[in-house]
Amino acid sequence: MTKIIAIANQKGGVGKTTTTVNLAACLAEMGRKVLLIDTDPQGNATTNFSINKVEQENTLYELLLGEISVNDCILKDVIPNVSIIPSNVNLAAAEIELIGIEEKEFIIKKEIEFIKDDYDYIIFDCPPALNTLTLNAMTTANSVIVPIQCEYLALEGLSDLITTINLVKERLNPELDLEGIVFTMYDGRTVLSQQVVENVKEHFPDKIYETKIPRNVRLSEAPSFGQPITVYDPKSTGAESYRSLAKEVDARK
Ligand SMILES: Nc1ncnc2c1ncn2[C@@H]1O[C@H](COP(=O)(O)OP(=O)(O)O)[C@@H](O)[C@H]1O
Ligand SMILES: [Mg+2]
Repeated sequence: MTKIIAIANQKGGVGKTTTTVNLAACLAEMGRKVLLIDTDPQGNATTNFSINKVEQENTLYELLLGEISVNDCILKDVIPNVSIIPSNVNLAAAEIELIGIEEKEFIIKKEIEFIKDDYDYIIFDCPPALNTLTLNAMTTANSVIVPIQCEYLALEGLSDLITTINLVKERLNPELDLEGIVFTMYDGRTVLSQQVVENVKEHFPDKIYETKIPRNVRLSEAPSFGQPITVYDPKSTGAESYRSLAKEVDARK
């Protein structure tokens, strides 16, 4: 069975893309076949695999508008076992262009049906907003992984996100669950990091991954080389921590 996961948090800069890209790369290393869907007009996950996003003519945007079919926009094996549906800034217009289109929250879900059996995992990198793009990811997904940055105000907006997940579950996708919460940019030496973890634990005791992703400079360098951490620095703490997260995710499958 294919597991479909949306990586979501409407806050920007919390580690969604870093988690999507490197979780995909580490699952791929374990031999799993992964399709990454870049659902953010910023296209950072796309460039993270050395794809020139501006040059792409068949992207998630064209797929959403019904101009192409799903097989036209999948870039196969950008690294071994990882394929990607790319995005670029054009996707920002989709929100408006889809106004009035029937069942616009289900466009990706319907398209994915044709190819989902080719993959063990389909992972969405969501934009920092609770919009039609995020809803498309959430109607398609079985579950949501929420990255939380261990910083001041980390919990702000978390209850909105949980409310959204529950609303989608009630009205659009009864299958949808909160898969897990992963702490990113964790620094165990700071009281603040520990406090954020304790606070979230109180609310979601059984949803927290053992693995905490530490702040690691190699993780922040890798995107500018267009590489996931497994390629850029496979022995780094960042790579090891995402491998450990991938094992946990795969064990819960
Ligand atoms: N564990 C980490 N250690 C160091 N830098 C990180 C880590 N996770 C993310 N970053 C950096 O933080 C910034 C925001 O991360 P990103 O994954 O792009 O967040 P989002 O997709 O939620 O906006 C990026 O510059 C990224 O390289
Ligand atoms: Mg991002």
